[in-house]
Amino acid sequence: MSDSASSSAPAAAAAPAPDAPGHGSDRPLFALRQASLGYGRHIVLRDVDLEVHAGEFWCLLGPNGEGKTTLIKTLLGALRPRRGAAYRDPEMFRRGRVSYVPQRLELNPVLPTSVREFVLSGLVGVKADATRRRGRLERVLSLVGLTGSVSRNYWTLSGGQRQRAMVARALIRDPRLLVIDEPTAGLDFAAARAVLDVLEDLHKTYGVTIVFVTHELATAQRYASHVALFRGGVVTAGAKAQVATDQALERTFGVPVSVSMGQGLGLGLGQGPGPGLASGTELEAGA
Ligand SMILES: Nc1ncnc2c1ncn2[C@@H]1O[C@H](COP(=O)(O)OP(=O)(O)OP(=O)(O)O)[C@@H](O)[C@H]1O
Ligand SMILES: [Mg+2]
Repeated sequence: MSDSASSSAPAAAAAPAPDAPGHGSDRPLFALRQASLGYGRHIVLRDVDLEVHAGEFWCLLGPNGEGKTTLIKTLLGALRPRRGAAYRDPEMFRRGRVSYVPQRLELNPVLPTSVREFVLSGLVGVKADATRRRGRLERVLSLVGLTGSVSRNYWTLSGGQRQRAMVARALIRDPRLLVIDEPTAGLDFAAARAVLDVLEDLHKTYGVTIVFVTHELATAQRYASHVALFRGGVVTAGAKAQVATDQALERTFGVPVSVSMGQGLGLGLGQGPGPGLASGTELEAGA
């Protein structure tokens, strides 16, 4: 959580679900109600309403500096809303079943750190004996395809391998909710695809809820069940088919966006065909 370490607000206590529409199993894992988020007097997002439920795959989409990481910090409890309320499932957060892959990792690259040490550092605060730790390490390294690199120095890995190690470090906690801030930024297509396929597998096979920040519409097209668009302090959030319309995407990215169906990558995640995002080129500037 190095990326959020500089945030000014103290950890938010889990507020009671303010007029939560759902009860029991319908209760969200995370919700914002009319929440304004920001730093000191600087309000970044206003009147945000959003609910993340178990089993959903969210993509947070928007240009730089629009508040995606700010919302993630609030989800993680590192930032308290300036106004309105944030609800975080108390049981899930108390049991540490939430993992976070930060946008930037602020570690000292001078210190040699083996992949083993790096990934095991994700178990901080989790009670597990040596045998269980080893078992979990093997499982997550195999999931991300880094089994053969366990003894290598993390800092000598390629960018893509490092990202996979970051994902492994998040997975070793066995999370119910995985929050990832741009894990594929700067990766080549194959490396990004490998990380995304691991996430898709976790989501489909193990029902892990995923909140994923990306600039890439094609990623949302293929993987998301839900989308949140960030623009001008406003968050438009909901099921992908409802939210990711031509007009909304154009508002978000400031250029006409062509929404086409059924090309190339498909919708994935068992979603039926429907309005989605352009799957090939991300943004198509209109004439
Ligand atoms: N710790 C902080 N203190 C004050 N302002 C901050 C802090 N962190 C971020 N901001 C400001 O909040 C706004 C939103 O930043 P945020 O990091 O949430 O954007 P983002 O959508 O994640 O951008 P990017 O796509 O570049 O990662 C920016 O104007 C940024 O300068
Ligand atoms: Mg960010």
